[in-house]
Amino acid sequence: MANTILIGAQWGDEGKGKIIDFLTETAEIVVRSQGGNNAGHTVIVGGTKYVLHLIPSGILRPGTKCVIGNGVVLDPIAVAGEIDGLTAKGVSVTPENLLISDAAHLVLPYHRHLDEAREIAKGAGKIGTTKRGIGPAYGDKIARVGLRMADLLNPAVFSEKLATRVAENNETLARYGIAPLDFEQTLAQLLAAGKSLAPFVGNTVVFLHKSVREKKHMLFEGAQGTFLDIDHGTYPYVTSSNTTAGGACTGSGVPPHHIDSVLGVMKAYTTRVGEGPFPTEDEGLGDMLHGMGREFGSTTGRARRCGWFDAVAVRYAGMINGIDTLAVTNLDGLDSLASVKICTHYRLNGALLETPPMDYAQLAACEPVYIEMPGWLTPTDQIRDWNLMPERAKDYLLKICDLSGAKLSIASVGPNREQTILL
Ligand code: GDP
Ligand code: IMO
Ligand code: MG
Repeated sequence: MANTILIGAQWGDEGKGKIIDFLTETAEIVVRSQGGNNAGHTVIVGGTKYVLHLIPSGILRPGTKCVIGNGVVLDPIAVAGEIDGLTAKGVSVTPENLLISDAAHLVLPYHRHLDEAREIAKGAGKIGTTKRGIGPAYGDKIARVGLRMADLLNPAVFSEKLATRVAENNETLARYGIAPLDFEQTLAQLLAAGKSLAPFVGNTVVFLHKSVREKKHMLFEGAQGTFLDIDHGTYPYVTSSNTTAGGACTGSGVPPHHIDSVLGVMKAYTTRVGEGPFPTEDEGLGDMLHGMGREFGSTTGRARRCGWFDAVAVRYAGMINGIDTLAVTNLDGLDSLASVKICTHYRLNGALLETPPMDYAQLAACEPVYIEMPGWLTPTDQIRDWNLMPERAKDYLLKICDLSGAKLSIASVGPNREQTILL
């Protein structure tokens, strides 16, 4: 497998974790390059379910090296806890298989408090964040007042910088009526987490470039999805990082000419968690999927909003990310439907649109234009061979990929590793 960037082509939770796990049979290095523990990537192996938040999904494959790149925002207490949780489940996490960038910015307790306070203050206009402090942490990074992993490893420097930041943030928290953080206690907690993470920290750029020279196969594990991208998503109902393919390069220090392909992951339908416009949202479809016990968030447990497949959105995702091939997951979710809808265009004020408008109010006003295809009314979860797939299911998969402008490469019919069909 060549060096591949894997991204979510919709609003996140496309099944990236499952596909990464499948592909790491051949990838030697898996790199996270943006986002933080707002991500929740589910991988089921041998009947055990793992939900990975910050640690790359490749950690479950012995021999795979996982890298948390400079573009990630990292909550040291959360990542130390995630390592402990994996270890308790028998997954080996050591400096041999996990390397964390010394340039990654930290998500600190005041970021979490601010995230929550700002959401409450927004009332009905809230974004519906995961409350993990992601927006405030990236905000500090851009404002050049962030603290990084390298700072945490130098207690004297860290203590001094943190003191200034805690004092300033306590004033802001007071305006929201939130109790101030106790500096000494906060410092002690963070230094303890820093101490346990220290053996994992290094210069990830140097490591990745050595790996490029050694022709190691790398997989870049995108978090969130295209329409949550800070530049290209449904702003302001987005996350605070570049979730699209370019983010993998800036967030890892691996330049574009070392990337061989971009794989888009999408569901056979659409989901979104959090607020913001969602043209193909369909409550009936949501009720059906929730009734099957599906589509509850892996990070926050919230019921995901559900809708029909949106080819307008994925076509646009194809442009931004340069998607070469598509992996379609959750086909089995549609098995029981007599007919399935696909959105091919939006209608806005009488005009037919091929691409989504960037203004969220306009997007919210778009009406989906659908084609309808007959359902296959056959369980697909036991199918392992493309040739044994019901013809109507094949037609549907090929149609949504065709409308999205890229070739189908993987069809997923269940959450387990083996429920995957490689074309
Ligand atoms: P990610 O954030 O993109 O990694 O996706 P999540 O893990 O948050 O959500 C995807 C959900 O779909 C998880 O519960 C997966 O176990 C599940 N999943 C992935 N692919 C399939 C599939 O083909 N069929 C079924 N039934 N579930 C799937
Ligand atoms: P994975 O990697 C789905 C959404 C939140 C909210 C918005 C902003 O599992 O696909 P944030 O906490 O990032 O400031 O929240 O982004 N969001 C996700 N939705 N999957 C994710 O990650 C998400 N990470 C953030 O629900 O709407
Ligand atoms: Mg997820």
